[in-house]
Amino acid sequence: MPKVKAPEDGRRQTPLDRMFGVIHGRYDRINRLFTWGMDKRWRKRLVAALLKLEPKKVLDIGCGTGDLSISIARQSHGKVEITGCDFSKPMLEMAVKKAKELAPNGKATFIHGEVAQMPFPDETFDCIGIAFALRNLIFENPLAGKHLSEIIRVLKPGGYCLIVESSQPSNKIIRLLSHLYLRTYVYGVGILISGSRDAYRYLVQSAIHFYTPEELEKLLLAAGFRRFSFRPLFFGAAGIYQAQK
Ligand SMILES: C[S@@+](CC[C@H](N)C(=O)[O-])C[C@H]1O[C@@H](n2cnc3c(N)ncnc32)[C@H](O)[C@@H]1O
Repeated sequence: MPKVKAPEDGRRQTPLDRMFGVIHGRYDRINRLFTWGMDKRWRKRLVAALLKLEPKKVLDIGCGTGDLSISIARQSHGKVEITGCDFSKPMLEMAVKKAKELAPNGKATFIHGEVAQMPFPDETFDCIGIAFALRNLIFENPLAGKHLSEIIRVLKPGGYCLIVESSQPSNKIIRLLSHLYLRTYVYGVGILISGSRDAYRYLVQSAIHFYTPEELEKLLLAAGFRRFSFRPLFFGAAGIYQAQK
């Protein structure tokens, strides 16, 4: 049965935590709205790439309402343990509820935790999946270095980290249009739905200024990964990044 462990960490809430706390019930619908449903297809691509690696222990970092963990639990054959980790308790509660219904095989469990200080021994997982949470973890985040070193620490040598995240289209016109879409539609509708100007300012600015695949490759290799590859999605507005420890 999916379960959630929730140790108290006494951490101060950021506008982003507060936003996830407020919108957790609408988060999935908001995601569909902003990506025109493509986020589902992009996560599926990540799951397919991850399952090809035949992992036995998977960590879903910043699991939110659990979509990635649930898809892996549903689509995997054989014995796979999936742990979803997130610092937002309301998002985790949604994940547990959804997993009970959609993946009752018990492969996915959820744990309350901060990525900068994950409650797992070294070299626990052979695969890590991150869906739309990497930007929160590394973009202009004072704890970015700590987040990356924790990801490396809990991954087995030779293990893979697969990430689906927004990216910067290499074509200048497409990039301009995608930034315009973020600045107008996503920002405006985001504020209306969430009531949080701060959170949506951050989300839009972080998407507009997020790393190019080349910059991210340098960052991940410097953090300790040894191989990197990138597959663009939707003209490079998003992409699947794969890094091996
Ligand atoms: C944009 S949501 C993505 C959720 C989910 N992975 C998905 O595919 O929809 C980012 C998630 O990362 C979590 N998160 C951000 N920073 C975190 C941190 N430092 N430690 C734990 N969770 C974090 C947030 O609470 C949020 O649930």
